[in-house]
Amino acid sequence: MEPRFRGTLWAIFILFTLPRLTCNMFCPSGCFCDFKGSVGCVGDTITDIPEQLPLHTYLLKLNGTNMNVIKEQSLANQDLLLRLSLTHSHLHTIHPQAFHAAPQLKSVKLSSNDLSTLPARVFSPLATLQQLHLDANKLEILAPDMFEGLVGLLDLDLSHNKLTSPASDLFDGLTNLTFLNLGRNSIRKLPPTIFNSLTELRRLMIYNNELEVLEVGIFDKLVNLAELKIHHNQISSLPPGVFWHLRNLKTLTLSSNRLVAVPDRSFYHMPTLSKLTLYNNPLLSLPDELMGYMPEIAEFYLFGTNLTTVPGNVFANMSGLLRLNFHLNDQLKELPPDLFCCLPKLMKLSLKSNNLSHLHPELFSNLPTVGILALSNNQLENLPENILRGLRGVLSIDLKNNQLKTLPGDTFTSNTALKGLSLSGNPWDCDCDIRDIARWIKLNEPVVLDSEDVMCHSPNYQLLRRVTSLRNDEFDFCDATTVRIPATSESHDLSQPFLRVRTQQQTSFAPS
Ligand SMILES: *[C@@H]1O[C@H](CO)[C@@H](O)[C@H](O)[C@H]1NC(C)=O
Ligand SMILES: *[C@@H]1O[C@H](CO)[C@@H](O)[C@H](O)[C@H]1NC(C)=O
Ligand SMILES: *[C@@H]1O[C@H](CO)[C@@H](O)[C@H](O)[C@H]1NC(C)=O
Ligand SMILES: *[C@@H]1O[C@H](CO)[C@@H](O)[C@H](O)[C@H]1NC(C)=O
Ligand SMILES: *[C@@H]1O[C@H](CO)[C@@H](O)[C@H](O)[C@H]1NC(C)=O
Repeated sequence: MEPRFRGTLWAIFILFTLPRLTCNMFCPSGCFCDFKGSVGCVGDTITDIPEQLPLHTYLLKLNGTNMNVIKEQSLANQDLLLRLSLTHSHLHTIHPQAFHAAPQLKSVKLSSNDLSTLPARVFSPLATLQQLHLDANKLEILAPDMFEGLVGLLDLDLSHNKLTSPASDLFDGLTNLTFLNLGRNSIRKLPPTIFNSLTELRRLMIYNNELEVLEVGIFDKLVNLAELKIHHNQISSLPPGVFWHLRNLKTLTLSSNRLVAVPDRSFYHMPTLSKLTLYNNPLLSLPDELMGYMPEIAEFYLFGTNLTTVPGNVFANMSGLLRLNFHLNDQLKELPPDLFCCLPKLMKLSLKSNNLSHLHPELFSNLPTVGILALSNNQLENLPENILRGLRGVLSIDLKNNQLKTLPGDTFTSNTALKGLSLSGNPWDCDCDIRDIARWIKLNEPVVLDSEDVMCHSPNYQLLRRVTSLRNDEFDFCDATTVRIPATSESHDLSQPFLRVRTQQQTSFAPS
């Protein structure tokens, strides 16, 4: 090898290993440094940004430290630092000029600290800032110009503070913002124009606040929004068409509010919606036109309402539904016959814990893909003949805790894929009418998951007998015309069946 060439190799070697050596040399105590330029420091001994950081540090993470103040000079000499994270450190004060020393910062995370106020325009020197996290602090008021000039900001997290009424121009100019989290504050009111600059916003979190109303037009400029979470507020009414400009919305959560009604066509113009939650609202009724065309909707949650019934077409446009959780509506009595007409992909239908006493014979006639049907904890007194016939793929049916006394013997015979059926908690009447279904249960005992607990409640002499213990020959008398001789006195032994007359065989009274 030529000496000159060998020299070059040495130079390259030194060039690449030097930073590594210097880094190891200068890594401050309490910190970990890696040769790529990231430094992490933890512990009470850290009270300020260490003066001697490896020269090429671009990422500095301080967590669980004693750095309560960012001083005017804290960030001096950190020309290459791009990402600063100072968390869980009881930070309460930032010097008004602190960020003048590091205008190149792209990310500042000050989460989980004690900040209750911020100096005027303290972040304004950070013209290329992309990420600002101030979540889990004690911020109550933010000056309207707090974020002025942060034109490159993409991600702003203000969640878990004490904000009550953000100024209408607080977010003006944040035209590149894609994520905004205002969740877990105490916001009562949002001005109608507060989001008007945020045309690039993809995700907006306003959950867990105290909003009582949404202003007309408040979301109209958010044409790129994919996720809007407004659950856990106090919203009692929606302005008409408040979501109509959100043509790219995929997720909308409105659960746990105080909605008693929603305006006509509230969920029109959302062709890409895939998840909608409305549960835990005291809804009394739904309008005849509510859901626009939404072929991609996969999940819909409508439980914990005060609905007594719903319009027959409420799910008609939700043709993509995979899971429909329409349960725990303790006043829901009635379902229209064609309610589930148009759900060609539905896999799970939960109607448990409603207050249904009758079902229309055609209710399930169009649900060939449903695998799970939950009807437990209702008031069902019977099931119409053939009601389950359309459920060709059903694997599991739960009928626990209803008021069923008997069922037609062929109720489940078309459900050839059935693997789990629950029938306990019903007052089965073990008289003649139960004969056929009792025989089916015995023949299909592995399918009836709770067969041990499927008990007779009547007649009295059968009380608490297992339905599976009923023998076929015990029903022989049923083929005869029977006459009941009513008890004439209190002394009649109710543990014995009534006497029956077998007319066919012309026998006389036959005590059993
Ligand atoms: C930061 O510190 C807090 C408390 O000191 C701790 O709970 C948390 O796990 C730490 N986070 C990281 C990423 O180390
Ligand atoms: C906004 O984002 C676009 C593309 O993401 C970028 O080209 C532009 O420079 C950004 N604007 C500012 C002011 O940073
Ligand atoms: C279904 O959606 C279409 C288009 O959005 C709309 O015209 C129609 O009225 C909707 N149907 C119902 C029952 O709301
Ligand atoms: C909804 O029902 C609950 C009881 O289930 C009741 O306390 C509440 O007042 C009802 N709300 C409305 C708006 O009717
Ligand atoms: C359930 O329906 C029955 C009548 O079928 C009614 O008496 C009862 O009050 C209803 N329960 C609720 C919580 O509304």
